[in-house]
Amino acid sequence: MSLLFIIFMKRVPTGVGLLDEALEGGVPQGSWVVASGEPGVGKSILCIHFAYAGLQTGDPVVYVTTEQEFRDVLEQAKQLGMDFTKHTIYNIAWKREPEELPEVVVIDIFGLLKVARQLTEKAKLEKMRKYAALSIDTLVEAINEAYNILGVAGERGTPERHIRLIIDSMSAFWVDKPVMARKYSYQLKIATHRENVTALLTSQYAPTTRQAYGFGLEHIADGVIHMWMDDVETAKEIRRWLIIKKMRMTAHRSRAFRVRITPGRGLELEAI
Ligand SMILES: Nc1ncnc2c1ncn2[C@@H]1O[C@H](COP(=O)(O)OP(=O)(O)O)[C@@H](O)[C@H]1O
Ligand SMILES: [Mg+2]
Repeated sequence: MSLLFIIFMKRVPTGVGLLDEALEGGVPQGSWVVASGEPGVGKSILCIHFAYAGLQTGDPVVYVTTEQEFRDVLEQAKQLGMDFTKHTIYNIAWKREPEELPEVVVIDIFGLLKVARQLTEKAKLEKMRKYAALSIDTLVEAINEAYNILGVAGERGTPERHIRLIIDSMSAFWVDKPVMARKYSYQLKIATHRENVTALLTSQYAPTTRQAYGFGLEHIADGVIHMWMDDVETAKEIRRWLIIKKMRMTAHRSRAFRVRITPGRGLELEAI
Protein backbone atom coordinates (compact mmCIF):
# COMPACT_ATOMS: atom_id res chain seq x y z
CA MET A 1 0.00 0.00 0.00
CA SER A 2 1.33 3.40 -0.85
CA LEU A 3 2.30 5.85 1.85
CA LEU A 4 0.07 8.42 0.19
CA PHE A 5 -2.93 6.18 0.70
CA ILE A 6 -2.16 5.73 4.37
CA ILE A 7 -1.76 9.48 4.88
CA PHE A 8 -5.00 10.31 3.12
CA MET A 9 -7.02 7.43 4.42
CA LYS A 10 -10.20 8.78 5.93
CA ARG A 11 -11.20 7.70 9.41
CA VAL A 12 -14.79 7.32 10.48
CA PRO A 13 -15.30 8.08 14.18
CA THR A 14 -17.38 5.58 16.14
CA GLY A 15 -18.65 8.20 18.56
CA VAL A 16 -16.95 6.52 21.53
CA GLY A 17 -14.10 8.87 22.42
CA LEU A 18 -11.41 6.53 23.70
CA LEU A 19 -12.23 3.93 21.07
CA ASP A 20 -11.60 6.49 18.34
CA GLU A 21 -8.31 7.48 19.96
CA ALA A 22 -7.34 3.80 20.11
CA LEU A 23 -8.16 3.51 16.40
CA GLU A 24 -6.07 6.49 15.23
CA GLY A 25 -9.23 8.55 14.79
CA GLY A 26 -11.81 5.94 13.88
CA VAL A 27 -12.34 2.94 11.65
CA PRO A 28 -10.95 3.23 8.11
CA GLN A 29 -13.61 4.52 5.73
CA GLY A 30 -15.04 1.70 3.67
CA SER A 31 -14.33 -0.99 6.22
CA TRP A 32 -16.61 -3.74 7.40
CA VAL A 33 -16.33 -3.90 11.17
CA VAL A 34 -17.85 -6.60 13.33
CA ALA A 35 -18.78 -6.11 16.99
CA SER A 36 -18.96 -9.56 18.54
CA GLY A 37 -20.00 -10.76 21.96
CA GLU A 38 -22.54 -12.33 24.28
CA PRO A 39 -25.88 -10.76 25.19
CA GLY A 40 -25.70 -7.61 27.30
CA VAL A 41 -22.09 -6.63 26.57
CA GLY A 42 -23.06 -3.41 24.74
CA LYS A 43 -23.06 -4.29 21.03
CA SER A 44 -26.36 -2.63 20.25
CA ILE A 45 -25.37 0.45 22.25
CA LEU A 46 -22.13 0.68 20.26
CA CYS A 47 -24.29 0.62 17.10
CA ILE A 48 -26.37 3.51 18.45
CA HIS A 49 -23.21 5.57 19.08
CA PHE A 50 -21.95 4.79 15.58
CA ALA A 51 -25.22 5.92 14.01
CA TYR A 52 -25.43 9.04 16.18
CA ALA A 53 -21.84 10.01 15.38
CA GLY A 54 -22.74 9.71 11.69
CA LEU A 55 -25.59 12.16 12.07
CA GLN A 56 -23.25 14.66 13.77
CA THR A 57 -20.89 14.54 10.77
CA GLY A 58 -23.69 14.55 8.19
CA ASP A 59 -23.38 10.93 7.04
CA PRO A 60 -26.65 9.33 5.96
CA VAL A 61 -27.35 6.21 8.03
CA VAL A 62 -28.93 2.89 7.07
CA TYR A 63 -29.93 1.12 10.29
CA VAL A 64 -30.90 -2.54 10.07
CA THR A 65 -32.34 -3.84 13.34
CA THR A 66 -33.48 -7.43 13.57
CA GLU A 67 -33.35 -7.70 17.35
CA GLN A 68 -35.44 -4.79 18.50
CA GLU A 69 -38.01 -2.51 17.02
CA PHE A 70 -36.46 0.83 16.11
CA ARG A 71 -38.84 2.53 18.53
CA ASP A 72 -36.97 0.73 21.33
CA VAL A 73 -33.62 1.65 19.82
CA LEU A 74 -34.69 5.31 19.93
CA GLU A 75 -35.85 5.02 23.53
CA GLN A 76 -32.58 3.34 24.52
CA ALA A 77 -30.63 6.06 22.70
CA LYS A 78 -32.52 8.80 24.52
CA GLN A 79 -31.77 7.25 27.93
CA LEU A 80 -28.10 7.29 26.99
CA GLY A 81 -28.08 10.96 25.95
CA MET A 82 -28.51 10.58 22.19
CA ASP A 83 -31.64 12.27 20.87
CA PHE A 84 -32.47 11.04 17.39
CA THR A 85 -35.78 12.92 17.25
CA LYS A 86 -33.92 16.03 16.02
CA HIS A 87 -33.17 14.05 12.88
CA THR A 88 -35.43 12.87 10.09
CA ILE A 89 -36.00 9.14 10.17
CA TYR A 90 -37.86 6.99 7.66
CA ASN A 91 -38.78 3.33 8.10
CA ILE A 92 -39.01 1.37 4.84
CA ALA A 93 -41.98 -0.53 6.31
CA TRP A 94 -44.07 2.65 6.24
CA LYS A 95 -46.77 2.95 3.60
CA ARG A 96 -46.48 6.70 3.18
CA GLU A 97 -43.67 8.15 1.11
CA PRO A 98 -40.99 10.18 2.89
CA GLU A 99 -41.94 13.87 2.95
CA GLU A 100 -38.35 15.04 2.93
CA LEU A 101 -34.99 13.45 2.37
CA PRO A 102 -34.38 11.43 5.56
CA GLU A 103 -31.08 11.26 7.43
CA VAL A 104 -31.71 7.76 8.73
CA VAL A 105 -33.44 4.92 6.91
CA VAL A 106 -34.51 2.09 9.21
CA ILE A 107 -34.86 -1.50 8.08
CA ASP A 108 -36.55 -3.55 10.78
CA ILE A 109 -38.20 -6.95 10.57
CA PHE A 110 -41.38 -5.35 9.18
CA GLY A 111 -39.37 -3.63 6.45
CA LEU A 112 -37.66 -6.90 5.60
CA LEU A 113 -41.06 -8.66 5.44
CA LYS A 114 -42.35 -5.95 3.09
CA VAL A 115 -39.32 -6.24 0.79
CA ALA A 116 -39.51 -10.07 0.87
CA ARG A 117 -43.17 -9.85 -0.19
CA GLN A 118 -42.31 -7.47 -3.04
CA LEU A 119 -39.52 -9.77 -4.23
CA THR A 120 -41.81 -12.81 -4.03
CA GLU A 121 -44.50 -11.00 -6.04
CA LYS A 122 -41.95 -10.15 -8.71
CA ALA A 123 -40.63 -13.71 -8.74
CA LYS A 124 -44.17 -15.11 -9.02
CA LEU A 125 -44.57 -13.43 -12.37
CA GLU A 126 -41.55 -15.41 -13.51
CA LYS A 127 -42.75 -18.50 -11.61
CA MET A 128 -39.73 -18.40 -9.39
CA ARG A 129 -39.12 -18.86 -5.67
CA LYS A 130 -40.30 -17.28 -2.45
CA TYR A 131 -38.14 -14.86 -0.50
CA ALA A 132 -37.78 -15.04 3.27
CA ALA A 133 -37.58 -11.85 5.34
CA LEU A 134 -34.36 -13.01 6.99
CA SER A 135 -32.46 -13.80 3.81
CA ILE A 136 -29.42 -12.08 2.36
CA ASP A 137 -31.22 -11.40 -0.95
CA THR A 138 -33.97 -9.58 0.90
CA LEU A 139 -31.47 -7.70 3.05
CA VAL A 140 -29.45 -6.53 0.03
CA GLU A 141 -32.61 -5.42 -1.77
CA ALA A 142 -33.74 -3.52 1.35
CA ILE A 143 -30.34 -1.81 1.68
CA ASN A 144 -30.45 -0.74 -1.96
CA GLU A 145 -33.96 0.57 -1.44
CA ALA A 146 -32.65 2.53 1.56
CA TYR A 147 -29.93 4.07 -0.67
CA ASN A 148 -32.70 5.14 -3.08
CA ILE A 149 -34.72 6.71 -0.30
CA LEU A 150 -31.62 8.53 0.97
CA GLY A 151 -31.04 9.81 -2.56
CA VAL A 152 -27.54 8.31 -2.71
CA ALA A 153 -28.10 5.26 -4.93
CA GLY A 154 -25.36 4.84 -7.50
CA GLU A 155 -24.36 2.07 -9.83
CA ARG A 156 -24.02 -1.53 -8.66
CA GLY A 157 -24.84 -0.91 -5.04
CA THR A 158 -22.28 1.88 -4.67
CA PRO A 159 -23.71 4.96 -2.95
CA GLU A 160 -22.73 8.31 -4.41
CA ARG A 161 -21.54 9.60 -1.07
CA HIS A 162 -20.26 8.19 2.18
CA ILE A 163 -22.89 6.41 4.25
CA ARG A 164 -22.90 4.41 7.47
CA LEU A 165 -24.47 0.98 7.45
CA ILE A 166 -25.45 -0.72 10.70
CA ILE A 167 -26.68 -4.30 10.88
CA ASP A 168 -27.73 -5.41 14.36
CA SER A 169 -27.54 -8.35 14.23
CA MET A 170 -26.21 -10.46 11.39
CA SER A 171 -26.68 -13.65 13.43
CA ALA A 172 -30.43 -13.42 12.83
CA PHE A 173 -29.82 -14.24 9.16
CA TRP A 174 -28.43 -17.70 9.86
CA VAL A 175 -29.96 -18.51 13.20
CA ASP A 176 -31.63 -21.66 11.85
CA LYS A 177 -28.71 -22.64 9.61
CA PRO A 178 -25.38 -21.70 11.19
CA VAL A 179 -23.44 -23.73 8.63
CA MET A 180 -24.46 -21.11 6.06
CA ALA A 181 -22.91 -18.24 8.03
CA ARG A 182 -19.74 -18.07 5.97
CA LYS A 183 -21.48 -18.25 2.60
CA TYR A 184 -24.05 -15.64 3.61
CA SER A 185 -21.34 -13.35 4.99
CA TYR A 186 -19.48 -13.49 1.67
CA GLN A 187 -22.66 -12.86 -0.27
CA LEU A 188 -23.44 -9.78 1.80
CA LYS A 189 -19.87 -8.53 1.68
CA ILE A 190 -19.76 -8.74 -2.10
CA ALA A 191 -23.03 -6.81 -2.33
CA THR A 192 -22.28 -4.06 0.20
CA HIS A 193 -18.53 -3.69 0.76
CA ARG A 194 -17.77 -0.38 -0.95
CA GLU A 195 -15.21 2.38 -0.48
CA ASN A 196 -17.91 4.79 0.65
CA VAL A 197 -19.85 2.43 2.88
CA THR A 198 -18.53 2.07 6.41
CA ALA A 199 -20.33 -0.80 8.07
CA LEU A 200 -20.75 -1.92 11.66
CA LEU A 201 -22.27 -5.38 12.00
CA THR A 202 -22.95 -7.28 15.19
CA SER A 203 -22.40 -10.96 15.74
CA GLN A 204 -23.79 -12.86 18.72
CA TYR A 205 -21.81 -15.23 20.84
CA ALA A 206 -23.48 -17.99 22.83
CA PRO A 207 -23.00 -17.21 26.52
CA THR A 208 -22.36 -20.89 27.31
CA THR A 209 -19.76 -21.81 24.71
CA ARG A 210 -18.48 -18.30 23.93
CA GLN A 211 -18.65 -19.28 20.28
CA ALA A 212 -20.24 -17.27 17.51
CA TYR A 213 -23.50 -18.68 16.18
CA GLY A 214 -22.01 -19.92 12.96
CA PHE A 215 -18.55 -18.79 11.95
CA GLY A 216 -18.07 -16.48 9.07
CA LEU A 217 -18.46 -12.85 9.79
CA GLU A 218 -15.29 -12.38 11.83
CA HIS A 219 -13.23 -14.19 9.21
CA ILE A 220 -14.06 -11.79 6.44
CA ALA A 221 -14.38 -8.59 8.46
CA ASP A 222 -11.87 -5.75 8.07
CA GLY A 223 -12.10 -5.16 11.79
CA VAL A 224 -13.26 -7.05 14.86
CA ILE A 225 -14.22 -5.32 18.10
CA HIS A 226 -14.82 -8.00 20.68
CA MET A 227 -16.88 -7.35 23.79
CA TRP A 228 -17.45 -9.61 26.76
CA MET A 229 -18.18 -9.67 30.46
CA ASP A 230 -16.53 -11.51 33.32
CA ASP A 231 -18.36 -14.59 34.49
CA VAL A 232 -21.18 -13.06 36.52
CA GLU A 233 -21.40 -15.98 38.93
CA THR A 234 -17.77 -15.56 39.94
CA ALA A 235 -17.61 -11.77 39.77
CA LYS A 236 -21.10 -11.30 41.26
CA GLU A 237 -21.38 -8.10 39.24
CA ILE A 238 -21.39 -7.04 35.63
CA ARG A 239 -17.89 -6.20 34.50
CA ARG A 240 -17.74 -5.47 30.80
CA TRP A 241 -14.70 -5.37 28.54
CA LEU A 242 -13.87 -4.39 24.99
CA ILE A 243 -10.82 -5.15 22.87
CA ILE A 244 -9.92 -4.27 19.29
CA LYS A 245 -8.94 -7.72 18.00
CA LYS A 246 -8.32 -6.58 14.48
CA MET A 247 -8.46 -3.39 12.42
CA ARG A 248 -6.93 -3.34 8.98
CA MET A 249 -4.56 -0.48 8.21
CA THR A 250 -4.50 0.64 11.83
CA ALA A 251 -1.85 0.54 14.55
CA HIS A 252 -4.54 0.08 17.16
CA ARG A 253 -4.33 -0.36 20.90
CA SER A 254 -3.73 -3.95 21.89
CA ARG A 255 -5.00 -3.85 25.47
CA ALA A 256 -8.59 -4.25 26.58
CA PHE A 257 -10.72 -1.42 27.92
CA ARG A 258 -13.21 -1.57 30.77
CA VAL A 259 -16.67 -0.65 29.48
CA ARG A 260 -19.21 1.35 31.42
CA ILE A 261 -22.75 2.15 30.33
CA THR A 262 -24.18 5.19 32.09
CA PRO A 263 -27.55 6.97 31.75
CA GLY A 264 -27.18 10.21 29.82
CA ARG A 265 -23.69 9.29 28.58
CA GLY A 266 -23.89 5.86 27.00
CA LEU A 267 -20.96 3.56 26.49
CA GLU A 268 -17.65 4.82 27.80
CA LEU A 269 -14.26 3.16 27.95
CA GLU A 270 -11.63 3.22 30.61
CA ALA A 271 -8.03 2.29 29.88
CA ILE A 272 -6.62 -0.24 32.32
N1 LIG B 1 -30.17 3.62 30.54
C1 LIG B 1 -29.21 2.75 30.88
N2 LIG B 1 -28.34 3.00 31.88
C2 LIG B 1 -27.38 2.15 32.21
N3 LIG B 1 -27.17 0.97 31.62
C3 LIG B 1 -27.99 0.66 30.63
C4 LIG B 1 -29.05 1.52 30.19
N4 LIG B 1 -29.69 0.94 29.17
C5 LIG B 1 -29.08 -0.24 28.98
N5 LIG B 1 -28.07 -0.43 29.83
C6 LIG B 1 -27.18 -1.60 29.93
O1 LIG B 1 -26.86 -2.03 28.61
C7 LIG B 1 -27.19 -3.42 28.47
C8 LIG B 1 -27.66 -3.71 27.06
O2 LIG B 1 -26.62 -3.44 26.15
P1 LIG B 1 -26.81 -3.89 24.63
O3 LIG B 1 -25.96 -2.99 23.80
O4 LIG B 1 -28.26 -3.95 24.27
O5 LIG B 1 -26.20 -5.35 24.67
P2 LIG B 1 -26.02 -6.40 23.47
O6 LIG B 1 -26.52 -5.75 22.22
O7 LIG B 1 -24.57 -6.70 23.45
O8 LIG B 1 -26.84 -7.59 23.85
C9 LIG B 1 -28.30 -3.66 29.44
O9 LIG B 1 -28.36 -5.02 29.81
C10 LIG B 1 -27.92 -2.75 30.61
O10 LIG B 1 -27.02 -3.41 31.46
MG1 LIG C 1 -28.11 -6.33 20.95
